[in-house]
Amino acid sequence: MNFVASWFGLGTLRQQLLRWVLVPMVILLLLNIMFAYRFGNANADLMHDQSLFDMSKVLRDQMRTNQAGEVELNIHTFALDMLSEGKKDKLYYFIRGLRNEYQFGRPDLPLPPEKLSESPTYYLAHYDGKMIRMMAAIMPEPDVADGRLIVIVGKTLVQHDERAREWIWGVLPSQLSLILFAGIMVWWGVGRGLRPLLQLSDEVRNRSSQDLSPLPEQRVVAEVRPLIHSINQLMERLDESLVRQRRFIDDAAHQLRTPLTGLKAQAELALHLSDPAEIRHSLRQIHMASDHAAHLANQLLVLARSEPGVQNNRSMVRLDLRDLARDITVKWAQNAAHKHKDIGFEHDNHECYISGDRLLLGELLNNLIDNALRYTQADGLVTVRVGCGDAEVSLEVEDNGPGIPENDRERVFERFYRVLGTSQEGCGLGLSIVHEIAHRHDAEVRLLSGCNGIGTLVRVVFRSA
Ligand SMILES: Nc1ncnc2c1ncn2[C@@H]1O[C@H](COP(=O)(O)OP(=O)(O)OP(=O)(O)O)[C@@H](O)[C@H]1O
Ligand SMILES: [Mg+2]
Repeated sequence: MNFVASWFGLGTLRQQLLRWVLVPMVILLLLNIMFAYRFGNANADLMHDQSLFDMSKVLRDQMRTNQAGEVELNIHTFALDMLSEGKKDKLYYFIRGLRNEYQFGRPDLPLPPEKLSESPTYYLAHYDGKMIRMMAAIMPEPDVADGRLIVIVGKTLVQHDERAREWIWGVLPSQLSLILFAGIMVWWGVGRGLRPLLQLSDEVRNRSSQDLSPLPEQRVVAEVRPLIHSINQLMERLDESLVRQRRFIDDAAHQLRTPLTGLKAQAELALHLSDPAEIRHSLRQIHMASDHAAHLANQLLVLARSEPGVQNNRSMVRLDLRDLARDITVKWAQNAAHKHKDIGFEHDNHECYISGDRLLLGELLNNLIDNALRYTQADGLVTVRVGCGDAEVSLEVEDNGPGIPENDRERVFERFYRVLGTSQEGCGLGLSIVHEIAHRHDAEVRLLSGCNGIGTLVRVVFRSA
């Protein structure tokens, strides 16, 4: 069963090639046998008919009219034996005058389907329990009265069939050996062609998981080279991503260590304090440090979730960005009021559909609003805006805060990068998260100045769906 499955399925390269070479060759062989059989048969017919004609001639040569005026047939058996070719076949004949005035041989021999004529008719008939091929004709014979007589001759088909078979056996062995040879050559050739690939596969199997150096492309056949080239490119990308990940883990560990060390120190200090006011102060410090650690852990998790390849595209749905942005802005209203800042939402009056991951887009917007509220002075104004173009949907978060200096606009997207001089807490991951999530959505992030060059405007442009 397995064999059948692998033979008809994709199977190995060898099986595929054998299939593509051998199956057409076998079909060709069968056709060839059919043609050889037909040709052999036609050829045997020709030779058989020639011998029937010769036989009729031998018989006519033996015809005489004696002195009494009677027609005689002095048949010499050896002459007929010669025509019977090794006595394999049985010969039959019937000769008579045009008006039936004399008869020799077997009068019950079957007649041809057509009317007798002077040109010989050849036909197959059943006689004496055998198939025989016959010839019948009105033939000239000067030794008899009227100068013409009717000759019917027939011969069994033993020699005839032998000849036809000889034709087939003449072509069959050479063709079979050709197929066998082609099969062996394919088997051997594929093995030889694949040897470098198998060596390469051994090398890859024995490699350490750290070794992502490129595989040698020149050692394999040209057809496989693009595959090896693509694998090498993939390994290169994998290597880059591993380096990036390692660096990120180092940075994350370093960033996490700071608040945790602070927490530990504050807790130890608090344990030795007896003044309730000092203890309260320490607890407040501990609270702030744990808040920071929790925020950092949360940002790291979101960043990890928004990395490419973490989630598959099943979480992408068609959604109205306007609804999502409105819901999230509403959630931030209380936080803004608490900070004495104003947050507003502007939108086009129609639906703005994009294909996106609801959770990730929520995180993107949370980070943009958080930044706008965090870095804008009290009484600041934050506006969330969704706009629809023909093929694009834009999401903007604008504030009238201090803005981001031109020089830092590239760098703020780097992980853990923070602009110096802000008094606000943060871990420098928010805009990296925005960048990753936008990238996941094939969207473009632009960092601009706000209205009249004041504040910050972050615009994310999505393709509409
Ligand atoms: N709306 C803004 N106005 C002014 N400065 C901003 C604004 N948004 C970001 N920045 C600057 O860009 C830096 C990077 O921002 P990002 O959101 O990546 O990190 P963060 O806010 O410091 O930390 P996190 O968001 O991870 O808590 C911030 O430190 C801040 O200085
Ligand atoms: Mg931030």
